[in-house]
Amino acid sequence: MIIVANFKANKNNGEVVDWIKRFHQQQFLLAEKNQIKVVICPSFVALESAYKTVKSLDWQMEVLLGVQNVSVFEGGAYTGEVTIGMIKEYARYAIVGHSERRRYFLEDNKTVLKKIAILKAAEVIPIVCVSGIEETEGLEDFDGFIAYEPLESIGSGRAVSVENLTIFVNQVRKLFKKSSILYGGSVTELNIGSFTKNSFLEGVLVGTASLDPVLFARLIANA
Ligand code: PGA
Repeated sequence: MIIVANFKANKNNGEVVDWIKRFHQQQFLLAEKNQIKVVICPSFVALESAYKTVKSLDWQMEVLLGVQNVSVFEGGAYTGEVTIGMIKEYARYAIVGHSERRRYFLEDNKTVLKKIAILKAAEVIPIVCVSGIEETEGLEDFDGFIAYEPLESIGSGRAVSVENLTIFVNQVRKLFKKSSILYGGSVTELNIGSFTKNSFLEGVLVGTASLDPVLFARLIANA
């Protein structure tokens, strides 16, 4: 099972390093959680320091890094872009098509498809976010994760009902045979068990509840 921490546009370099060290200090909570993979997705500027900090510590479980986006361009005159070549040394995962990127940066599935191809070529695993089954339209089956994140559940404190989640999972499993499924949207230490203590999901994506390393460790302890 994987638990992804999406810091979004929060935390500078020093704060990310501090978060990782404080999360590491909570490992006593996580002694029996060694089957869980934790994927931390900080901002690009913190990626290298995060990588070095993670590497310098001993972990009970696998702790890896991801990014929150990647450019559709592989390099050249594209001011402001962060390319696959700049991140692949550090990141094993990449979130693409997050609803905030779809909404504020007009990312669509055409772009998502290009990003999936770029990630695949670099052996970085895509985590494609969709807010419903209709948002999978145009996507092809791929090796990676589909994260179901209903818009009304993101940052609202209202996680999806198990009933709606089951409907989505059944629909996706019919269309995507190679992909694994995550759920994201108001996952907390209180409700995580309802998403992880059954076998129909491969993990969760956590935003707000990942920002505090102590709370995040408690969330994992309850997974
Ligand atoms: P949330 O965000 O956990 O704050 O709801 C999840 C997400 O947007 O990925």
